[in-house]
Amino acid sequence: MKKLLSLILSIILCLCFAACGAKTEEPFEKGEKLATIFAVSDTHLLSEDLFSPDNQKYVKKAMTADGRAQECDYYLMETMIQQVNEAKPDALIITGDISFNGEVHSHRSVVSFLDRIDKDITVLVIPGNHDFNIDGCRSYYNDTPHGENTVTGPEFCELYADYGYTGALSYDEESHSYIYEINDKVWAVMLDTTLCEYNAEAGLNTAGGAVWEETIEWLRPWLKEAQDKGITVIGFSHHNLAVHNPLFVDSYVMFNAELLSALYKEYGVKLHLSGHMHIQSIAERDGIYDIAQGSLLDYGNRMSTIDVYDNCMEYSRISVGDKQDYTFEVFVNKNIGKRTSQYTEKYGEYAEEVHLLVCQANAYYFDGDYPKIHEMMNQKTKAMKLIKKNEKDSYIFGSENVDQNYLLVK
Ligand SMILES: [Fe+2]
Repeated sequence: MKKLLSLILSIILCLCFAACGAKTEEPFEKGEKLATIFAVSDTHLLSEDLFSPDNQKYVKKAMTADGRAQECDYYLMETMIQQVNEAKPDALIITGDISFNGEVHSHRSVVSFLDRIDKDITVLVIPGNHDFNIDGCRSYYNDTPHGENTVTGPEFCELYADYGYTGALSYDEESHSYIYEINDKVWAVMLDTTLCEYNAEAGLNTAGGAVWEETIEWLRPWLKEAQDKGITVIGFSHHNLAVHNPLFVDSYVMFNAELLSALYKEYGVKLHLSGHMHIQSIAERDGIYDIAQGSLLDYGNRMSTIDVYDNCMEYSRISVGDKQDYTFEVFVNKNIGKRTSQYTEKYGEYAEEVHLLVCQANAYYFDGDYPKIHEMMNQKTKAMKLIKKNEKDSYIFGSENVDQNYLLVK
């Protein structure tokens, strides 16, 4: 009997240790902090100079259908700059689609905002697909849009001369890419992946992006030098390095992404930040993390922070300002106008309720807040039961319960 009892006790103890072992993470201590970098994407500022004083709020409110709160662009830019000046990071980086749609006036307005950032904070920008050589720039003085000038690539670099386009370690001849020394331990690779150079030739505003083989070869010796000197390198581009969502591949993931991830892998670069989709998401390609940042104008209204240590990098996001309730409503209301008939056919009397829940969950998806979606899925309503039955494989409700707003890169 004693033997039997001790056997049972041993089994219980073994199970206990196994369970504890499964739950316990390896203890990890962050080393010496080397730099703090803030980053933001798709600020899409539309200059107030393109409006008459009385019409800008309501025109801006009605002009985008993708969920962003365009009417908050000045408030969010203003508040972001205040928060950056208070937090005093080493650098602020904007990963493209800085302007609404490439207007000269919008870029000038952005520059006057950036001029108010403390001079000991390095500010770096790269263009997105809405930033130069754009056909169809508009002003809205009398409610009727009028043609406006865009900027060319060289003009973009001239406008942002104080924000990356002078003083870099090196500039690529094939694009507006450059490599910048944040400090003697941390470098930023700033990749222009746009195809806007070819817009006139193509007869359209190109949305997709690429990293050219020549750019890869320009970058190679710099990454080797960084590796030899033990410098941490972080990459930035507008277009994505990794696939984040099967619906967002063509025109989203940069052409030749595999060349860039192979180069990063060869020289120990572990982290890349992008934007473009307006969706916050963390994905991997060849073991390199690509964090697609959501738009500042979309619900969440967040800015990325990266603390670089000598043995790891810690990524998280902070909210800018206090209009999240408002921008949530804007996002949901702009989406709820779409595809209503599809829901009526499928869900009958529950269509309205299901559609509202899907649009709310989509706002959380765009903000990368997957735990919030899983919290919603615990609701015991008939509408949620129908969603769980019919939408469980959708990108929203099929998402893993993993927060896309935090990452520790070791
Ligand atoms: Fe954008």
